[in-house]
Amino acid sequence: MLMKDLFERIKRDKGPLGKWAKLAEGYYVFPKLEGPISNRMGFNGKEVISWSINDYLGLASHPDVMKADAEAATEYGMAYPMGARMMSGHTVFHEQLEQECAAFVNKESAYLVNFGYQGMVSAIDALVTKHDVIVYDVDSHACIIDGVRLHHGKRFTFMHNNIESLEKNLERATKVAETTGGGILVISEGVFGMRGEQGKLKEIVALKEKYNFRLLVDDAHGFGTLGETGAGAGEEQGVQDDIDVYFATFAKSMAGIGAFFAADDEVIQYLKYNMRSQMFAKSLPMAMVKGALKRLDMLRTMPELKAKLWENVNALQSGLRKNNFNIGNTNTCVTPIFLEGDVPEAMAMVHDLRESYGIFCSIVIYPVIPKGMILLRLIPTAMHTLDDVNESIAAFSAIRDKLEKGIYKRIAATMM
Ligand SMILES: Cc1ncc(COP(=O)(O)O)c(C=O)c1O
Repeated sequence: MLMKDLFERIKRDKGPLGKWAKLAEGYYVFPKLEGPISNRMGFNGKEVISWSINDYLGLASHPDVMKADAEAATEYGMAYPMGARMMSGHTVFHEQLEQECAAFVNKESAYLVNFGYQGMVSAIDALVTKHDVIVYDVDSHACIIDGVRLHHGKRFTFMHNNIESLEKNLERATKVAETTGGGILVISEGVFGMRGEQGKLKEIVALKEKYNFRLLVDDAHGFGTLGETGAGAGEEQGVQDDIDVYFATFAKSMAGIGAFFAADDEVIQYLKYNMRSQMFAKSLPMAMVKGALKRLDMLRTMPELKAKLWENVNALQSGLRKNNFNIGNTNTCVTPIFLEGDVPEAMAMVHDLRESYGIFCSIVIYPVIPKGMILLRLIPTAMHTLDDVNESIAAFSAIRDKLEKGIYKRIAATMM
């Protein structure tokens, strides 16, 4: 075989998303939303109602949050502290944030990570050896999939939120672990971020009576939005104590950067000394840490933010259901609208939605969801108003009508 220049393939094959770049970039992907993060933002020279920003509690542009961020940046700059936590990048505020995160989600200890994605990859890597077995939901977020990719031992997927399938795979995993002498790590999400279904944590936890495993939960979308105090999906389902390793990112309801793991102190101490993404990377900057402390304080002391969020979630979801939209089985804030159509139709429809109706939302298509389906993914926030909800439902009804009449198919043919 003749050797090739490595970049030959890259020039020829742009990848499953990259192949759409010419058509999509700047509009469908890498769009530039402008103005303060809010329910209404600028896009392509107009105002749009923005339904695609995970600022659940409306903290991103809250004046108290912006003040705290600015003060911390003025005092410390963006460099402080320098080095990895283990070597020279540790401060009392990092420690304080860890203690407060642990207390908020009712766990003994917590460990901060710079980004949820790399933190999750690295935590999975640290928690298992080649003798251990991972059993995880097939619809898991990319950070879980990529963490599992690092695993040298056996792994099994179970069908999405399907407890029978989980049990079947736990049986298989148990057989493997009995031969290797390892343990089992089950991974689920608190909230599946595309379709908005909570992971069936209660049912998963119930299986602990029959099988010997530890449970890791990625609660990126549940933290701050679910449970009486906002401690997430585990609190909502009454099983927070049975989650062995709890994970949440600051990138959603906290409107920040960073993430944390919370668990028994022994487990957290282990992660501190074994998570390569933290041992070999610079510490979270102080402005992020102090900003997160402010946000966490607001989560604790301003329950009205979560109440307002849910008022909007309920108005949006009940309005969509009343208008016969298929919003799947969401039982969280994440609100999907399932429609039928091909990829070019989806593009024409979203263009119309943005240009004619001033609605900006994320669109999910094949291969993320099955061929022939279009998913409009809406994230209601505490910033939205009932006017936003009503105006948007009217717009969705109008575009569904056009989609069903084949109008977007015709428009797409001229766009392509
Ligand atoms: C379920 C889930 N896990 C992990 C992450 C990654 O978190 P971060 O943005 O902090 O890297 C995200 C996205 O932000 C997510 O939706």
